[in-house]
Formats: sequence, C-alpha cells, structure tokens
Amino acid sequence: MNHIPFTGMGLPGPNEGWDFADSQSDPLSAIHPYPAKFIPSIPRKLIEHFPPRKGLALLDPFCGSGTALSEAQAVGIPSIGVDINPIAVMISRVRSSEIPADALNIAQQVEMAARADLAPRVPLIPRLDHWFKPQVQSAIASLTKAIEVCGGDCRELLRLALSSIIVRVSNQDSDTRYAAVEKAVDAEDVYERFRSAVKKTLRALENRPVRLAGVEVIEADVLTIDRSMIDKPIGLVVTSPPYPNAYEYWLYHKYRMWWLGLDPLAVKEREIGARAHFFKGRNSHTAVDFQRQMANVLGMLRDVMVVGGHACFVVGRSRIRGEIVDNATIVAEAAAAAGFREVMRTERVIAASRKSFNLSHANIKTETVLVMRKQN
Ligand SMILES: C[S@@+](CC[C@H](N)C(=O)[O-])C[C@H]1O[C@@H](n2cnc3c(N)ncnc32)[C@H](O)[C@@H]1O
Repeated sequence: MNHIPFTGMGLPGPNEGWDFADSQSDPLSAIHPYPAKFIPSIPRKLIEHFPPRKGLALLDPFCGSGTALSEAQAVGIPSIGVDINPIAVMISRVRSSEIPADALNIAQQVEMAARADLAPRVPLIPRLDHWFKPQVQSAIASLTKAIEVCGGDCRELLRLALSSIIVRVSNQDSDTRYAAVEKAVDAEDVYERFRSAVKKTLRALENRPVRLAGVEVIEADVLTIDRSMIDKPIGLVVTSPPYPNAYEYWLYHKYRMWWLGLDPLAVKEREIGARAHFFKGRNSHTAVDFQRQMANVLGMLRDVMVVGGHACFVVGRSRIRGEIVDNATIVAEAAAAAGFREVMRTERVIAASRKSFNLSHANIKTETVLVMRKQN
C-alpha cells in the first residue's frame, strides 16, 4: 500500500482525530498499572493507516505494557516488543499469551499454600518497614514463595496478579504519589486483592478478540540489542519512547521488582530519560544524550525495517533545567539522518488525567504523533 505525505494543509489522511478524549480504559490495559501507556486507539489507528505488507511484522522497541503488540495481534500482524523493564516484559507476555490451563484452581492452591506458611522468609528489601506493614510483608512473602513452586504455565500470570496489587497493599499513597500514609490494610486484604486480580486478568484474557498472530517479547536494552534478536522483517514500528525527565518506569515499579526478586537499580542504570541521569554533576545528561540515544535507536530500526516501512513515534516534550526540549524534533532529525522521510506530524492533546506530575508542572499539554517512511 502506498502512502502520500499527509503534512500539507487540507490533504486527506489521518492527520486529525488523535486526541481520543473520550477513550475508556479497556480491560486488557487494566490488568496491571503502567505509566504513560498508549490509549489503544492510537496504535490501532496507526496500524490502520500504515499497515505492514503481508508477511512483515510490527516492532515496538519500547513496548512497555504491550498495548501496540495487542493491537497488532488482534488484526493478525505478528509483532516483536522490546523493553528494559522486566515488569513491562511480564505484562506484555501475559496479555498476549494463551490462558494457562486450570489457572483459577492453581491460584486457589497457591493461596492455600501461602496461608499455611506460618514462618515465611521476608526478603531483604530497603525500607521495607516504612512501606509495608509486617503482616502484609508476611502475606506477600508467602504468596511469592507459593507462586515460585507452583510450576507450569501459570506462574507468570500469578506473578503479574501479585505485582499488580503491590502498591495498593503498601503504605504508599498511590501509584504516582510516593508518600507513606496510614492505610487500613492487613494480610487478608493481600489475599483478597490477589484473588480478584487473578480473576480480573483471566476475564480480560478471555474477552480478547480472537488471537491471530504471534507476539515475541524481548527483555533487552534497545541501545545495545543484538540485531539478530529481531528475527522477522519489520514493516511497521509503533512506539512511544521514554524521554528525559518525564516518567520513571523503574521507580514506579521499584517495590514490585524487589518483591519479585528483580533488580530495579540495574533497570534505572539503563533506562533512557531516568531523572537520576539528569541530576547536577559532572556526568549529568542533557538533551544531547537523548539525541545520541535516538540516533542509535533509529540506526537499529533502519537495519531491521524493510524499505517503504513506516516508523511511528508518539512523543512529548521535556523540561531539562528549565528549558523545554522538543523531543519529536530530536527523533525526526535522527530519523532523517538514518534515511527516513517524514510523512506525517500532528499534535494531540494529552488528557489531563494521563499527564505525569512533571509534565503538568511544565505546563505541557500536547504530544506529537510522528510518522516516517524508510527510504532506500
Ligand atoms: C512510554 S513507555 C512505553 C509505554 C507503552 N507504549 C505502553 O503502551 O505501555 C517507554 C518504555 O521505554 C522503556 N525503556 C526505557 N529505556 C529503555 C531502554 N534503554 N531499552 C528498552 N526499553 C527502554 C521503559 O521501560 C518504558 O516501558
């Protein structure tokens, strides 16, 4: 399918209607909290307007919770997702996999085994007593252990269910507010919420449209990924990259990772845009680091994409030391240098409820939808 450039005034095409202001949360996206996830309508519309040729795959190099992968799967396009964050990888895998056999029964057995475990070994996690009541700690530790030994295909789904409730059973005020508050939660709440998270996840998986295509999810740093891991020809990229000083994915999932035996500090080290990299100091990052990172990503995309394929980026602005940085321009320049031609650029209004504290503070109200076509 050929596409004409849509940047001109009055041209027909998909350069309008990207706000989706009345979009509702869909059950599949709600199985686990994730910051800055796509409204499913955005990847859906990009796939509709820039479909890859038959036999080609979609790639999301920053797949997060896997929204674009699910949209591709639902319309029969094979896809590959990459993310550095193991929580992202877990969500993306669970939402795109077969429902494990006997999941509800296994979840019940896990709960019974956890309740019977009277002396669970609570792992050494920094500031655990500040964030979790002792009886909540014991219940989570018992569930984690019972899940680890449950075996079979169910383990990842049960880990996701447990991970999804961690902030709600902690003393943390909310997913986006890192303050400890007094909450009436005890061990019974942990078990109840775990049970309902399992049921909610299974319902969402059962109600998926018929799954027509395979999804592969790779846990890797996209800046150093071995290209041969992207083992399908890519006809479409749909992604929303991390960018400086906006969301901190490792921080958002820090305690989830610790409880699941993962290392949030290793993720922080490699996470593009993490605020810690921008703190004042000799090696402090600037917009130039983001330019270098995007040049690397676009170089990788050039290598794995077919000629004529489209790379679609949804990206907002940042504020670095008081200055607003237009990340879309940085991505577009990196793409042009890698041999892509811009075919669409449009602004969409970000719903107030979806903005991070940082972006609201910087009074940033829109983000850019950018589509570039790979030339020869
Ligand atoms: C805007 S989010 C993507 C959200 C996704 N579109 C969704 O619907 O859930 C950006 C993602 O980039 C990931 N990321 C940050 N640095 C990375 C790196 N070096 N390699 C791979 N992924 C990275 C983050 O973990 C985060 O999940």
